[in-house]
Amino acid sequence: MNQLIFSILRLLSDGKFYSDVSIAEQLQCSHAEVLNAIKQIDNYGVNLTKHCERNYRWETPIQWLNSDSILSSTCINSNFFNIKIFDLIDSTNNFLLNNLENRQIGRCDCIPVVAAELQTNGRGRIGRNWYSGLGDSLTFSLGWRFEQSISSLSGLSLTVGIAIIRVLNSFSIQNVSLKWPNDILFDHYKLAGVLIELRREIRDVSYAVIGIGINFNLSEKVKSAITQQVTDLFAITGKYIDRNLLFGALLSELRSILMSFEKYGFAHFKKEWISYHGYEGKNIYLTLPNNLVIEGIIDGINNDGALSLKTSTGRNFYNVGDVSIRTKQP
Ligand code: BTN
Repeated sequence: MNQLIFSILRLLSDGKFYSDVSIAEQLQCSHAEVLNAIKQIDNYGVNLTKHCERNYRWETPIQWLNSDSILSSTCINSNFFNIKIFDLIDSTNNFLLNNLENRQIGRCDCIPVVAAELQTNGRGRIGRNWYSGLGDSLTFSLGWRFEQSISSLSGLSLTVGIAIIRVLNSFSIQNVSLKWPNDILFDHYKLAGVLIELRREIRDVSYAVIGIGINFNLSEKVKSAITQQVTDLFAITGKYIDRNLLFGALLSELRSILMSFEKYGFAHFKKEWISYHGYEGKNIYLTLPNNLVIEGIIDGINNDGALSLKTSTGRNFYNVGDVSIRTKQP
């Protein structure tokens, strides 16, 4: 059924009216199947316009992800990436984590990338959900094998945040900042997030699943499900940014930054990270996973990407993944 729903949506992506009979003919299925699928389309957050009972039109179709367009925009050898695009999946991170053993995905010579038009169970940091609707975001995961132990990968998630900022800037999207460890913000509203999950393969070899979600044009329904203040690229720029183009640029930047990270470690990126930090020098509350709240002034990060906080008891460092952060209440 899902497959038929997505075939219908693809057919309607030209914004024209189609009768249920012509949809059935073109997709070589029964009329009843089409009617049944159309009934379920609004479960995907899509509202079709109906005309004279039996004609349907999708007025605001999404821009579908397309691996050829993504790869042609990467300006690097397209053989570097193995891109798999799902219409519907629970979570792209889950998919890569569950397929690490699969040579086609986890251990081929090229970099595995899994993207989805819609995630049904997108995951965020600290056990949170990550919400997005059909085609309104870029949600993908990339697998990277490090010839290093997990303990040498501190600062990896911060480095990925830098890659995202660089690419957004290259699309003339300015004034985006980072919130430790790796939230991407515009004017304190969340625009994108990074979830990195690490697995030890063998001694001194580890595998990172790097999940990235970027909001492009969230519906009111999706926004209302999110408890944080959020924004998206359409709200910021007033334009529909080409998802395939930005995705390609991001893959190319990620490949290059991850290679440098492997070589030089996070220390190499520390200065740049601080330059994008939206909370540098700010008086903040830091909420630890055990709900303990610490007040302090942010004073940079160290070479491992740990946050440096000046508190009433002195300077302390907090590691990636251990804490969440929020601005001091006025
Ligand atoms: C966060 O800021 O909490 C991290 C959000 C990460 C979301 C992305 S979307 C693609 C990938 N798959 C997931 O389930 N999560 C990440």
